[in-house]
Amino acid sequence: MSTPHRARFEQSVWVGGACYVFGMSPRFITFEGLDGSGKSSHLETAVSWFVQAGIPVVSTHEPGGTPLGDAIRRLFLDPKWGRLDGTVESLLVFASRRQHLLEVIDPALAEGRVVVCDRFTDSTLAYQGAGRGVPLDVLRDADRLATGSRVPDRTLLFDLPAEIARERGQGDSRRAEPGGVDRLDAEELSFYSRVRQGYRDVAAAEPHRFRIIDSSGSRDQTEAQVRAALVDVLEA
Ligand code: TYD
Repeated sequence: MSTPHRARFEQSVWVGGACYVFGMSPRFITFEGLDGSGKSSHLETAVSWFVQAGIPVVSTHEPGGTPLGDAIRRLFLDPKWGRLDGTVESLLVFASRRQHLLEVIDPALAEGRVVVCDRFTDSTLAYQGAGRGVPLDVLRDADRLATGSRVPDRTLLFDLPAEIARERGQGDSRRAEPGGVDRLDAEELSFYSRVRQGYRDVAAAEPHRFRIIDSSGSRDQTEAQVRAALVDVLEA
């Protein structure tokens, strides 16, 4: 990867295969959670706070975030494939992710911007690992190849029971829309319960990086937690 990236790693430490950055304000920030957890609309609000604070920020998302990644995203979400093998899914999202790092994330970080990204590798650990049953060491190997095991500086996990996420994110009106249900929306509740648990396990293993946002309450209650999780970055 590029020299600016290596320069950042000089201020970091590797613990159990994960890279933690110390002594600097978090700049690569990810939002994670189930579909319907509200993370994407809270991400938009958070980005507006960065803009108001005069902090240069790039807002992006996965899968996608680049022309190639957006093409992979369309393939990945297309309901016509039905349920795919979890390793096939992983290879698709990691291909999109590598392009995203090379084309968007690393250049923005090198220019000194904060990058706020809707989903990153924790989604793969939760959906393909816990959800589909791909062994985590296989995913870690693929991650090493695709991203050099890149770990965000901070991750906000929007946590709520799968039942509530499903009601909110995939209500009857969305299900009735043409194209309103993507390939993963069609999964059963038990899949989403495994994904939720997968996220909680990853977060428990890396408490320094994660901020758990209880998103089962009102929008205002959730927003206050998001603000608290980012206040040091906004005021740095
Ligand atoms: P999207 O419409 O972006 O959902 P959301 O707004 O909830 O982020 O669809 C992305 C879907 O892709 C979502 O169901 C999660 C899934 N996904 C994976 O399964 N693995 C991954 O690595 C990523 C990034 C996403």
